[in-house]
Amino acid sequence: MCGIVGAVAQRNVVPVLLQGLLRLEYRGYDSAGLVVVNHNQLERVVSTGRVAELSEKTIHTSGHLGIAHTRWATHGVPSERNAHPHISSGQIAVAHNGIIENYEELRTRLSAQGYTFASDTDTEVIAHLIHSHYARGISLLGATQAALAELVGAYAIGVVAADNPQQLIGARKGSPLLLGVGEIEHFIASDASALLQVTKNMVYLEEGDVVEVGLHGYRIFNAQGEAAQRPVHVSELTNESVELGEYRHYMQKEIHEQPQALANTLESVCNSQSLIPGIFGAEAAATFADIDSILILACGTSNHAGQVARYWLEEIAGIPCNVEIASEYRYRVSVVNPKTLVVTISQSGETADTMAALNHAKSIGHLHTLSICNVPESALVRASKLRMLTRAGPEIGVASTKAFTTQLAALFLLTLILAKQRGRLSQEAEQKHLHDLRHLPAAAQAVLNLEPQIAELAKHFADKHHALFLGRGLHYPIALEGALKLKEISYIHAEAYPAGELKHGPLALVDQDMPVIAVAPNDALLEKLKSNLQEVRARGGELYVFADADTRIHSSDGVHRMQMPEHAGYLSPILHTIPLQLLAYYVALQKGTDVDKPRNLAKSVTVE
Ligand code: M6R
Repeated sequence: MCGIVGAVAQRNVVPVLLQGLLRLEYRGYDSAGLVVVNHNQLERVVSTGRVAELSEKTIHTSGHLGIAHTRWATHGVPSERNAHPHISSGQIAVAHNGIIENYEELRTRLSAQGYTFASDTDTEVIAHLIHSHYARGISLLGATQAALAELVGAYAIGVVAADNPQQLIGARKGSPLLLGVGEIEHFIASDASALLQVTKNMVYLEEGDVVEVGLHGYRIFNAQGEAAQRPVHVSELTNESVELGEYRHYMQKEIHEQPQALANTLESVCNSQSLIPGIFGAEAAATFADIDSILILACGTSNHAGQVARYWLEEIAGIPCNVEIASEYRYRVSVVNPKTLVVTISQSGETADTMAALNHAKSIGHLHTLSICNVPESALVRASKLRMLTRAGPEIGVASTKAFTTQLAALFLLTLILAKQRGRLSQEAEQKHLHDLRHLPAAAQAVLNLEPQIAELAKHFADKHHALFLGRGLHYPIALEGALKLKEISYIHAEAYPAGELKHGPLALVDQDMPVIAVAPNDALLEKLKSNLQEVRARGGELYVFADADTRIHSSDGVHRMQMPEHAGYLSPILHTIPLQLLAYYVALQKGTDVDKPRNLAKSVTVE
């Protein structure tokens, strides 16, 4: 949830730390701070503003060793005193991502030992704990390992000591951390994008790893304290993929990247003549043959992708499917069917609730696990037996866009492959689906051409405080997703309902101040949906309808129709998502909100 970057080099590391923080700001932006080691002293600079403000405050700061942090507040309000890094006794500085669950107990003990606390954070106990060992003459590595042994909870940390000007310690458990390998300089960071400026050679630390980083090299120790080897990966990320380019916001850029992201995700399939389970991993064929149901676990937008997939999986593949909110499932007593395939979906692969739900599922006896994820080396991918990587590229805007549509593409492939394996997909149907999938990027591009019209439409929402989204069947989760996008970035209160449910309550909300946005593909439920829309019009509700060309829905008094270029059959939810993303984006512009960094949120939710 927070971002960490650290560096040890022969040059001034402050610009590297700041550039890294800028890349990590999507992980939290309540405050930012850094510590550099200089002449046996720790220099701490923090800001409750964004990284840009921290940059201004550090123009006279320099050092060859430092750690930096961008924060999403959990313990203690966003303030300078709660900003990381935290310092113990002027000697030890720590930047932390995660939550220490036993911090109160440790705080009481450390206070009794004479430590005074300068913040309300859980992190400060880590700094004092490390100091309490370091002060006894133990090495920085040993002191950190001893402190970590006392922590309950999740962490990724960066540690430096005032009297140790060429050494940086990193550690991770439950939160991500990687090592960047340079020439006579080394780095740590929460993700690879923060280090692309200095190196492409990355070492992904594993659960429980501690790394001692110096100018000339590094040593990794596993959770048992034994020396460990981890492979060096050459990152395929490019600077361009994490830069804004011609766009005003990352969200806008990422909405526009969808045709390419879909093409990349579908590449291996679209280049072949038939669908094979191998795209989900070597053991996929055997696993798929052994399952009789599916359980999808995910949060937020990823959960909406799962909800669409349920319609596909039951209708096309004939497999019973449940979709659960990960944060609920992890604490629920559920009945285990060992023949269930547990599918976790996550853009980041580090969402704490989704990760915990997967671990919970495994712990109660689920054997078959598959993750659909956008981050190759993420914890979720590593913890799953099977995987399919969406190839959306880095998603930086907090509002998830291209990750969602590529998740849908991956879930549609899963549906087709399961249908085929169960003899429910004729060769002719398979070829037709492959044809439609090959056409999907072009179809998505055609929808993007609606952007100027949607920007105009968004002006109608500038003074609105509420909105209702309606959809039916496959497109009900798309209505949910449209509502989530709108509320998340424009702060307009938005609800989504299956249109048939209107008359059971929400219709009472409808008046001229409640815009109603309808997702109207030309599918089997179209006529039912039209009747529901009449119910809205009859109560004076203003309708904004995203309709396929052949729906015979037209603009009229109180009805604003946006015509979708084509009807995409089963793939329609993917196309119908795009105008809702654009609508949310342009309404947010009208409202003047911070589109890429909406208040109170962060991109990766690595805490409960
Ligand atoms: O990284 P994940 O896909 O696991 O994240 C799940 C949710 O936190 C995420 O989709 C969130 O709802 C987005 N901000 C929605 O735009």
